[in-house]
Amino acid sequence: MASTTNGQEDQNQAGRHQEVGHKSLLQSDALYQYILETSVYPREPESMKELRELTAKHPWNIMTTSADEGQFLNMLLKLINAKKTMEIGVYTGYSLLATALALPEDGTILAMDINRENYELGLPVIEKAGVAHKIEFKEGPALPVLDDMVADKKNHGSYDFIFVDADKDNYINYHKRLIDLVKVGGVIGYDNTLWNGSVVAPPDAPMRKYVRYYRDFVLELNKALAADPRIEICMLPVGDGITLCRRIS
Ligand SMILES: C[S@@+](CC[C@H](N)C(=O)[O-])C[C@H]1O[C@@H](n2cnc3c(N)ncnc32)[C@H](O)[C@@H]1O
Repeated sequence: MASTTNGQEDQNQAGRHQEVGHKSLLQSDALYQYILETSVYPREPESMKELRELTAKHPWNIMTTSADEGQFLNMLLKLINAKKTMEIGVYTGYSLLATALALPEDGTILAMDINRENYELGLPVIEKAGVAHKIEFKEGPALPVLDDMVADKKNHGSYDFIFVDADKDNYINYHKRLIDLVKVGGVIGYDNTLWNGSVVAPPDAPMRKYVRYYRDFVLELNKALAADPRIEICMLPVGDGITLCRRIS
């Protein structure tokens, strides 16, 4: 909005905007449901639907990437022509499948998770979709693998896209390493950067224990990303919040 010299007029304008619109479009659960039912579910590949429904029966299903975020990732990867990618935090593989479907036949995903069992739950669906050959799964904590990769200069600047959706208390540690591994012009996506909306909750607000535990790490990450001159950032209110970081130097 163009600035005016009249502060009162600015305030009136702001008031009017608050009445007719909102900076976030998602004013209700019904609106979110509308997005899912109008744009996401009708275009969701059959394999992703199958994996989503299979995952819904799993006791830890709260961890899965939402269908709208899966659609977003799939589109993003195609827009940036990603070929070499990495994912930290696989669970049953919904975001992994969204990625694998978006990549060209010779595209690759280095996928890491401490839990192989959950990955193997979704694997038959990924195999049936014909994209399992793009995935190299590594079981175990991601950080030591990243350390090994960073130690070898040939890995530097080699990734087009990296999706981070695992232990939030390590996100800053991941970022320190991933910034070397992603290429200039490539993108790192950090998931859950709005962390259940808790990023704006007063410190004494009632919160689930795990939400409270990770909240400070998410707040610290958001500040660090905003202050990092090596990247451009864009925080999107998709899913639980995803911050895209495009490496510029
Ligand atoms: C939110 S879930 C990932 C969801 C997944 N992206 C999806 O689309 O369903 C987080 C995953 O991170 C894994 N994880 C936790 N700590 C980890 C670590 N240190 N290294 C790698 N994976 C880890 C957990 O086992 C869990 O499967």
